[in-house]
Amino acid sequence: MGENNNFLLGICGSPRNQGTQFAVEYALNYASEKFGFETEIWSVRGKKIGFCTHCDYCVREKKGCIQKDDVQELYPKIENAKFLLLGTPVFQGNLSAQLKAVMDRCRALVAKNPDVFRNKIGIALAVGGDRSGGQEPAIRTILDFYLQNGVITVSGGAFGANLGACLWTRDQGKDGVKKDEEGLRTIRKVIKRLTTFTNKSD
Ligand SMILES: Cc1cc2nc3c(=O)[nH]c(=O)nc-3n(C[C@H](O)[C@H](O)[C@H](O)COP(=O)(O)O)c2cc1C
Repeated sequence: MGENNNFLLGICGSPRNQGTQFAVEYALNYASEKFGFETEIWSVRGKKIGFCTHCDYCVREKKGCIQKDDVQELYPKIENAKFLLLGTPVFQGNLSAQLKAVMDRCRALVAKNPDVFRNKIGIALAVGGDRSGGQEPAIRTILDFYLQNGVITVSGGAFGANLGACLWTRDQGKDGVKKDEEGLRTIRKVIKRLTTFTNKSD
C-alpha cells in the first residue's frame, strides 16, 4: 500500500474513551473539516497489544512482527499515512505504557522498510489530570520517537503550543477536556501549523 499524501492518522494511547479520545477526535475533525485532510483514528482501547520481546524475528526476516495481535491492523494504516498524530494520556509523568508498546512494535515496520517513516510529518498531543502533570515530557517522548525514525516533527509554535498540544482534564476525563478551552486552542494551533507543511493553508 502506498503513502496517501492527504491522510492524517490519529493514534489514541488511552485505554479509556475519555479525554484523550475526545482530544484526538477534536484534532482530526478540525483537520478534516477546516483543511480537508482525510483522517482516521486508531485507539489502543480494548486492543490486544503485546510487548516487543526483542526476538529479532523482524530484523532477521524483514516481514514485520511475528506477534499476530491487534497491532497488525495498525501497521498498514501507519504505512499509508503521510501525517501522524500520536495522543497520550499522562501516566506517571509520561506517555501511557500502551502507546509505548505500540512504538516499540514499530521496530518491525522499520526492519521491513528502513524508510517507512521517512518524510512523514508528526504532531503530538498529551492529556493530563493536572495542569502541569507531565504533558511536555510525554510529548517529548513522542517527538523523540519521531526523531529516531525520521519523521519530521511539527509543533503548534510559540504562544501556547510550543512542543505540541497540552490538555488538562482536572481528572474529569472527556468533560474536563471539553472545558479546557486553552487546551483545545493548542490543538487548533498544532493543526494550523501542520497545514504550513502541506498546500492546505492556501
Ligand atoms: C496510572 C495513572 C497515572 C497517572 N499519572 C498522571 C500524571 O503523572 N500526571 C497527570 O497530570 N495525570 C496523571 N494521571 C491522570 C490522567 O492523566 C488523567 O485522568 C487523564 O485525563 C487520563 O486520560 P483519559 O481521560 O484519556 O483517560 C494518571 C492516571 C493514571 C491512571
